[in-house]
Order: sequence, then C-alpha cells, then structure tokens
Amino acid sequence: MDDQALLKLAIEARKNAYCPYSEFPVGAALLCADGTVVTGANVENASYGLCLCAERVAMFKAVSEGKHGFLKLAVACNADYCRPCGACRQVLFEHAPDLEILMGSPEGSFKRTTIRDLLPEAFSF
Ligand code: THU
Repeated sequence: MDDQALLKLAIEARKNAYCPYSEFPVGAALLCADGTVVTGANVENASYGLCLCAERVAMFKAVSEGKHGFLKLAVACNADYCRPCGACRQVLFEHAPDLEILMGSPEGSFKRTTIRDLLPEAFSF
C-alpha cells in the first residue's frame, strides 16, 4: 500500500463522516502491520463532548478487531494538511509509538510526520 493509495482511502472515508454540527468531515486510514487498512470518520453527537474524531474511530476499530502493530495513518479533511488533535495524538501514541502520519489535503498532497514529532515527551506508563 503506497502513501497515495492510503491517503485516497482517508479522503474516501471522509464521506462517511457524521458531522451535522461542525460540518467538518474528516477521514482517516490506518495501515496495520498485517497489511490491512482500517478506516474511520468523525462521528458527532448532539451532546458535543461525545464527538469522536476520525483518527480515534479508526484506531479503536482496529484495536477492537484484534489488530496490533500499526505502521501509518493518513488523515484528510476539507482543508490542507489535516492535523490530528491533541487527544488523538495521545491515543495514537498508546497503540503505535512509531506511527508515521500523512497529513493530507483533499486533493491528495500531504505532509509526512511521525507521532513522536507531533507529541514530544508523550505520557505513557
Ligand atoms: N476532528 C477529527 O475528526 N480529527 C481531528 O484531528 C480534529 C477534529 C473532527 C472532530 C469534529 O467532529 C470536527 O472535526 C470539528 O472539530
């Protein structure tokens, strides 16, 4: 799975976002060590604090399906170079401290980074 293909899956996953409150769809595609890809989209709620970001949906789906070992996550929104929020960074670090991240634009360009760069001095046990 090359980077462009992974980002394309994140751009596609964005279409499944449930975001009637923010109207800000986000999609994520997580490349697992077994070669499979698990996607996610943000899912909002009328009780705003319950909204879940696309990145966490993808990671929680993957972990709950018994996957472990994660290589790369692509994320895309309607703006350029979608950046994972702080809460997602902490969740991603927990399961994938060596994760590569592609912060995508809707047109398919991206900036490459890592979870360690996005979350320096991360908390963990
Ligand atoms: N959102 C994500 O899905 N990922 C992020 O990293 C940042 C924000 C979602 C949450 C909410 O549904 C909408 O974008 C606006 O904040």
